[in-house]
Amino acid sequence: MHLKTLRGRDLISIADLSPEELRALIDLSFDFKRRYYLGERSIPLLSGKILGMIFEKHSTRTRVSLQVAMLQLGGVALYFSAQELQLGRGEPIKDTARVLDRYLDGIAARVYSHKSLIELAEYAKVPVINALSDLEHPLQALADVMTIIEKKGDISKLKIAFLGDGADNVLHSLMLAIAKLGGKLYIATAPGYDPRPEILRLAEEDARKSNAQIIITRDPIEAVRDADVIYTDVWVSMGQEAERERRLRDLSPYQVNAELVKYAKKDYIFMHCLPARRGEEVTEDVIESANSVVWDQAENRLHTAKAVLAVLLG
Ligand code: CP
Ligand code: NVA
Repeated sequence: MHLKTLRGRDLISIADLSPEELRALIDLSFDFKRRYYLGERSIPLLSGKILGMIFEKHSTRTRVSLQVAMLQLGGVALYFSAQELQLGRGEPIKDTARVLDRYLDGIAARVYSHKSLIELAEYAKVPVINALSDLEHPLQALADVMTIIEKKGDISKLKIAFLGDGADNVLHSLMLAIAKLGGKLYIATAPGYDPRPEILRLAEEDARKSNAQIIITRDPIEAVRDADVIYTDVWVSMGQEAERERRLRDLSPYQVNAELVKYAKKDYIFMHCLPARRGEEVTEDVIESANSVVWDQAENRLHTAKAVLAVLLG
């Protein structure tokens, strides 16, 4: 029932979803996964539909999972590097949006500036999906929540620790999702790297209703002590390359390594949206350990992409 309300809508932020809609999308993702393993890969819910994908930055998981999801749902996905579109020569986003809108049934976009997505969504009548911006990565958060539930059950009973860049796009979306579902999120980060205030404010509003807790600390041990989930992402996101040296220096106390994970529960899971930089935010032994669920997490990008596309474009 909550899925009907999503039809034709954009997915720019996890904040766009009600807790019920978020849960319904996750349930549908589990459904797609079950059917996938029963051999039902082709489910033609989107036959004749065309998704356009505009990428300003590199991508493996998002690009391929969206494309495969469209194909398995009976539709088509077209990939465009933003640089090769007239967009790359300065054609305004609002003009591009109104033209592509006439050809396509939906647009996914990966952009440097979140504002570009807002403008795209404002001018395109078809659903616009955030495929990562500097501010958020909602498609990743859906797969993250699905993975946490799959491995650990009810999120509201868990302690989740995120270590590293507190203003990371992946963390922002995960934080908004946990705030809607309940659970305890510890964010261990350095001064100057706290979550963006507008995201924290949204998360805190939802947390009051769900009894979620969001705690920011400078102490990595406090964050991982007895944690069920340890999550990290790169210290230098796409677009931040010029700040590399400073970020590596400031965030180095937050590396997820064998010494630190000793403080977590024995059966904790290690998560990372990938791509990972071994030796920076995580060590090789942790990401390759039996506690690491990163490949299942990456797989869940496919099942959650199907749920989003089937519901928004269906
Ligand atoms: N996690 C993720 O979004 O990966 P890509 O950058 O490869 O799409
Ligand atoms: N925070 C990373 C995520 C990549 C999927 C980045 O924006 O580069």
